[in-house]
Amino acid sequence: MSSREIIDTQVKTFHDTIEMPWKRSFLSLMRSTYLEDLIGETEISFSEKNNIFIRENWDSIKHLTLVDPFRMGVLIDLLEKVKDVEGDIVECGSYKGGSGILMGLWLKANGIKKTIHMMDSFAGLPDPDAVNDKGYKKGQFMSDFDLVKSEVEKNGLSDMVKFHKGWFSDTVPPMKNDVKIALFHVDCDLYTSTNDCFPDLYPAVTQGGAIVLDDFNDGGGGEKKAVHDYLERNELSEVIHISPAPQSFIIKGEAANDIIKVGGQKYSDQHISNNQPYLNWLKENYDLNLMENIQKVNSSA
Ligand SMILES: C[S@@+](CC[C@H](N)C(=O)[O-])C[C@H]1O[C@@H](n2cnc3c(N)ncnc32)[C@H](O)[C@@H]1O
Repeated sequence: MSSREIIDTQVKTFHDTIEMPWKRSFLSLMRSTYLEDLIGETEISFSEKNNIFIRENWDSIKHLTLVDPFRMGVLIDLLEKVKDVEGDIVECGSYKGGSGILMGLWLKANGIKKTIHMMDSFAGLPDPDAVNDKGYKKGQFMSDFDLVKSEVEKNGLSDMVKFHKGWFSDTVPPMKNDVKIALFHVDCDLYTSTNDCFPDLYPAVTQGGAIVLDDFNDGGGGEKKAVHDYLERNELSEVIHISPAPQSFIIKGEAANDIIKVGGQKYSDQHISNNQPYLNWLKENYDLNLMENIQKVNSSA
């Protein structure tokens, strides 16, 4: 094998490994009855710092979200981490409002004044890219803008939420120079959609702010490619933290120890290795030993 082929094989094996948890678990995690059972299992922790908050507020958003409690736990912990970072919350991909509303409830409960920008067509996904997106369909995840607005009102968050209804290619350019971001939730599934928001809004994220990539390891490949392309094009050496699948996240400008270098990109498994409840759940339910698999790939690189 040529050295190029060896690197390509390592890159593929690494990404197959970090995408495996979602491949195995997505069918159950997309089922509302399974999520009800999971939330009912009080010994499972979904969050290092906000487990009680997630459990107590799940009923308010469970019918409004595609994000499971493990990912939601990380999202809310990151929100806590960046609570004093200058800037607002921008969510590209709000669907029925669930993740945005949960962030709003946390900010309200903790007396923190930040605006949540909910950005969505509210008409579902645009056309997936023929080459770079797998497994998604045009119109998927359609929601209803009036219902989302009424849920925001019902949860007492109207003062805090600013809606940007429409395609990102139309709604991002008018706000990109005026916004400062403490947390950027990138939850729009597709290559083109990520390209329509990430390159314009990444520069608006304050140093130390969080960028949460909800679909990075979903196997669709689009969000991952758009993020990698942007980082490479701009020679940015950010560390991508592996998180409960399919999510990953970046803390802008933050150094990390024990970096895994794969195909010119830097990753860290520190966060996931500390998330024992999630690792236990993968092992018990899917016989998947994620850390062992990552270490195997890492040592053969
Ligand atoms: C997976 S859903 C978001 C899930 C949401 N965060 C939750 O809590 O369930 C993806 C959303 O991204 C939106 N979307 C994707 N591409 C878009 C684009 N180019 N412009 C506007 N909205 C887009 C879709 O309409 C859809 O509501």
